[in-house]
Amino acid sequence: ETPSADDAPQLRHDIRTVGVVGTGTMASGIVQVFAQAGYDVVYVGRGEDKVAGVRTFIEKSLDKAIARGKSDEATKAAVLGRLTGATERSALAEVDIVVEAIAEDLDIKQELFADLDRICKPGAILATTTSSLPITSCAEVTSRPEAVIGMHFFNPAPVMKLVEVVTTVQTGADVDETVRALCAKTGKVAVSCGDRAGFIVNALLFPYLNDAVKLSESGLELGVIDTAIKEQAAYPMGPFELLDVVGNDVSLAIQEELLREFRQPGFTPAHTLKQVVAEGKLGRKTGQGFHDYR
Ligand code: CAA
Repeated sequence: ETPSADDAPQLRHDIRTVGVVGTGTMASGIVQVFAQAGYDVVYVGRGEDKVAGVRTFIEKSLDKAIARGKSDEATKAAVLGRLTGATERSALAEVDIVVEAIAEDLDIKQELFADLDRICKPGAILATTTSSLPITSCAEVTSRPEAVIGMHFFNPAPVMKLVEVVTTVQTGADVDETVRALCAKTGKVAVSCGDRAGFIVNALLFPYLNDAVKLSESGLELGVIDTAIKEQAAYPMGPFELLDVVGNDVSLAIQEELLREFRQPGFTPAHTLKQVVAEGKLGRKTGQGFHDYR
């Protein structure tokens, strides 16, 4: 059933300024999404060069849009004018919501959430875009588990419409509704799901991607498998092209989490996936993955 306008989620918290932690592909894309939707964004990175890199990423993306006649210089100036980069987390003291997109490592995330809990004002929502770690583990190190939620964006974040809104048993209904309303404000489509490995999309997508790697191990060429899927299923990318976009390190982490939770032997990460990660061939972000981008 399609919800009527009356059922549309409302902003139960006032959201004016958005904080983002991280400077990688996902963080940069998420900063862009919020700034384009008219929000002031404070983003935090681990060094001046990384902070500047986010701005460059967004400038390039907007330049491309201008070249395609989809945007203009005034819009670009307005979007860039909403960005404040910082190297200290204390810059997040007054934001209304933080979305973190740092390393997919539980110790690192928990240290961050404990710190955000100390830094951010009372009532601020703490969101994570993790794709492989339980949201509950981020919530349990804070004094405000009701304000902790998953906001799982897809790569490339400025393009992909879906956001999985992941609630734990402790997430407040007001927080859940606010985040779903915020998705709508930024032109995204929110789907609600519980805190289980892979949420919805990755629980279905990654067994397929992992199977594609195993299929290639039987001697099939990567390009042939990519073409077959694109032609047959009308997917925009074949499995190896997509793995390279997502990042093979991220993909391996997701696959390992699915195996841990569901314990099905079929979920065992493909040997070649582990191998490309060990070789540092992480995908487009390193110039080489299953395919070569250099
Ligand atoms: N930032 C901003 N805009 C971008 C962009 C980026 N990084 N990449 C592409 N675009 C825009 C282009 O400017 C273009 O916009 P217009 O139509 O307004 O001109 C549009 O997106 C289409 O791009 P292109 O024409 O250059 O290329 P394309 O048609 O091949 O599309 C793609 C590129 C959107 C990435 C498409 O290939 C695609 O949808 N691929 C699949 C991506 C996918 O499935 N992602 C999910 C992965 S799973 C995940 O992320 C979850 C996880 O937890 C790991």
